[in-house]
Amino acid sequence: MNQAEQLKRKAAEAALSFVEDDMIVGVGTGSTVNHFIELLKGMKGRIDGAVSSSDASTALLKQAGIAVMDLNSVGTLPLYVDGADETDAHRRLIKGGGAALTREKIVAAASEKFVCIVDESKKVGVLGEFPLPIEVIPMARSYVARQLVAAGGRPVFREGVTTDNGNVILDVHDLNLVDPVSVERQFNCIPGVVTVGLFAIRPAEVVISAGVGGVERF
Ligand code: A5P
Repeated sequence: MNQAEQLKRKAAEAALSFVEDDMIVGVGTGSTVNHFIELLKGMKGRIDGAVSSSDASTALLKQAGIAVMDLNSVGTLPLYVDGADETDAHRRLIKGGGAALTREKIVAAASEKFVCIVDESKKVGVLGEFPLPIEVIPMARSYVARQLVAAGGRPVFREGVTTDNGNVILDVHDLNLVDPVSVERQFNCIPGVVTVGLFAIRPAEVVISAGVGGVERF
């Protein structure tokens, strides 16, 4: 395992301390969460199951022998564990690099505690070096792109990607995200936008960041 994967593994290991017996655990998507799923396999007899944020994570959870439950049948979840593309010191995130942002935002919203697991390369002073993913209804793609240009962004259509919900992704470059809460609210109001990949109105409760110097929580 290369160093980047080792750090993701360490962050995932640290998140296991939030998993309690008989829990139904919300599970995110991405290469960091894939480590968490592998580790969760070792505890599968102790948890009741998982709610998944993507078809990809559902497949891995099932392979691990973990029951995957429908969010509609389980109520509020105690815990959601997911990665991020960027985090600031206030635990506000950019997500959606893997195109799973809509279900991720739903499962995070339905959870009491969102524990975000990252390697230290994801920590930034101000969000926005990573282009902001926005999931859009296909027929609204050009309209939404024009609104994003008017807001100062440079949207790029993610070619060849259809989300699990049948939509498309615009990756928005060059945004000023000094106030991510306002931007999230503003973009949420554009007709045709399904989900903005900013998790700032509701940030993570805990970020676990693994670096070469050790694992920190904030
Ligand atoms: C999926 O859409 C994303 O939100 C991921 O959570 C994010 O891209 C982190 O992925 P990695 O753990 O693979 O970096």
